[in-house]
Amino acid sequence: MKKTILTGDRPTGPLHLGHYVGSLRSRVELQRDYVTYVLIADLQALTDHGEQPERVRQHVLQVALDYLAIGIDPNVATIMVQSGIPELAELTLYYLNLVTVARLHRNPTVKEEMQQKGFESDVPAGFFIYPVSQAADITAFKAHVVPVGGDQVPMIEQAVEIVRRFNRLYGSLLIEPVALVSKIARLPGTDGQSKMGKSLGNAIFLSDATEVVAHKVMNMYTDPRHVRAQDPGTVEGNPVFSYLDAFDPDGRRVEELKRRYRAGGLGDVELKYHLIEVLEGFLAPIRARRIEFAKDQDEVTRILRAGTEKGRAAARRTLAEVRSALHLDHY
Ligand code: TRP
Repeated sequence: MKKTILTGDRPTGPLHLGHYVGSLRSRVELQRDYVTYVLIADLQALTDHGEQPERVRQHVLQVALDYLAIGIDPNVATIMVQSGIPELAELTLYYLNLVTVARLHRNPTVKEEMQQKGFESDVPAGFFIYPVSQAADITAFKAHVVPVGGDQVPMIEQAVEIVRRFNRLYGSLLIEPVALVSKIARLPGTDGQSKMGKSLGNAIFLSDATEVVAHKVMNMYTDPRHVRAQDPGTVEGNPVFSYLDAFDPDGRRVEELKRRYRAGGLGDVELKYHLIEVLEGFLAPIRARRIEFAKDQDEVTRILRAGTEKGRAAARRTLAEVRSALHLDHY
């Protein structure tokens, strides 16, 4: 029997190259070998964008277009919208009893996000507990594998703890998920910062037009001490090379460029022209498919409705089992 994959994204902006490297790529590669569920997590998006519900709604469609454009096949994988599956909220409520406030405080990703969002003194409770709702997302579909970027590993760890506690207290019902982190767990931003983030202003989006990609690459951070082409440059921590490692299909060519850069004699402009070409080769077919799907939004809506309905049926089954395990099925 095939194992199950569940993963998802918050629809707070369009998806970018970091998402692709971290998790989108493996979803496309694995969708035929696993029963694959992909969740557009609009309820989770409201935990930090509660004041912008219209933005979240619009990005549900944008994220769906990104999925379809990169090759997630709706005839193979189930694409679902979280708010259409209220069973997930109910599961969250039960799981909240299995985790302490102190444990939630120790989640490093939540901590980092709280800092980024200025939530340190005044965190919305819904945001603070989103790792628990994510555990509900994962377990509702009895997922074995969760392909995610490196920043999401603490969420899977927390889900595993909840599953263990649940199974110990109420009988082995839930599946312990395993995180699948890609070789390149984190793609740096165009500013050289450690993480590409949609709200950090350092992302190249899958939907960016050719000129936008070229402009972002030309402004990319490189090695600040590599001033003239003939100077030796540093490859490590240089985002241009991180992107080439991730996207240039010709690894030998990348090694040769690294050698020339280190030795001196390869200018940033020449190097960046090469990266633009590589990214264009990768993004052009994605962009074309996106435009095709965007022409027929009714079809995209139908895909989301059908996927959500199918996902809901699976979540309903798990919820019934959970309620029974919790002795909540008598009335
Ligand atoms: N937290 C993920 C993000 O920030 C989105 C997400 C919601 C998710 N539910 C999930 C990821 C379940 C993996 C599994 O994009």
